[in-house]
Amino acid sequence: MLIRKPKKISESEITPYEMYLDRRKFIGQAGRVALLAAVAPGALVAGDLTGEEAEAAVIGSQGDELTPFKHVTEYNNFYEFGTGKADPARNAGDFRTRPWTVAIEGQCERPGDYAIEDILGRFPSEERVYRLRCVEAWSMVIPWMGFPLKDLLAWVQPTSRAKYVEFTTLHDPDQMPGQRRRVLDWPYVEGLRLDEAMHPLTLMATGLYGQELPNQNGAPLRLVVPWKYGFKSIKSIVRIRLVEGMPSSSWNGLAPTEYGFFANVNPEVDHPRWSQARERRLGEIRRRPTLMFNGYADEVASLYESLDLLRWF
Ligand code: MTE
Repeated sequence: MLIRKPKKISESEITPYEMYLDRRKFIGQAGRVALLAAVAPGALVAGDLTGEEAEAAVIGSQGDELTPFKHVTEYNNFYEFGTGKADPARNAGDFRTRPWTVAIEGQCERPGDYAIEDILGRFPSEERVYRLRCVEAWSMVIPWMGFPLKDLLAWVQPTSRAKYVEFTTLHDPDQMPGQRRRVLDWPYVEGLRLDEAMHPLTLMATGLYGQELPNQNGAPLRLVVPWKYGFKSIKSIVRIRLVEGMPSSSWNGLAPTEYGFFANVNPEVDHPRWSQARERRLGEIRRRPTLMFNGYADEVASLYESLDLLRWF
């Protein structure tokens, strides 16, 4: 995102793209698979499919092929590790993601500090394939591992006063060299309305391509909100707070005319400095039309029925 004016993962840790697809085929042929593929509008549950059917469901029926692992993990936005797209993969290798604690605070019945192991143990990860569309008009299709945020929220029991959820990234300039420069007001913060946070598509991601989240993608726990621009999908979360008022968000705070709180993907609302009507899928040359709500309109448009999307962009 522009404002005007892995430890390198070793080869053995990586699931290469082709091997991943092979593994998929193997899982499919071996029997029943439980995969949720939300690539196509009308989230598709591929629970009882086998073999080729499962493969087709996961990759999607709209020409939505998975973005190769290399692009997903080497072309990133994670300003805590630098502002260049290659910086996170280069600089996040030694980032320590254990021990890791997530503080749950605010308007809920079960506030507390939770070890990441407790969270991962309580909410087992499933696979979901989502598009991620950055505000800068590039996009990817990623097989995420994760659990629905709504499960965690249901467990901590928001009180009737909770209206929004605020998320905060770790602040540790010793480990995150980007935080030594004031490009953003650190720590990175983001927020969702409670109904957005409770939507079944909203995911707490713990991995991708069948393995733990690489550091540059937001280990050990990040948000993925597939119908919103990528900056809402905050990485390396250490705090989740249930609050009464609309929380601030880093990009909105920095440039409110450019980055709205809602940040719903909308081809009809241009960024002040560029059009949002088309996007470039990483690995492809020709741009393709951007879909309303990033293609998830059937599932999420009802959340915004009473909202003027031109005003609340
Ligand atoms: N989270 C934090 N903490 N810091 C960041 O700079 N960048 C955001 C989002 N989450 C960012 C962040 C932006 S602009 C995008 S597009 C996505 O992460 C990119 O996710 P990816 O690198 O896994 O593709």
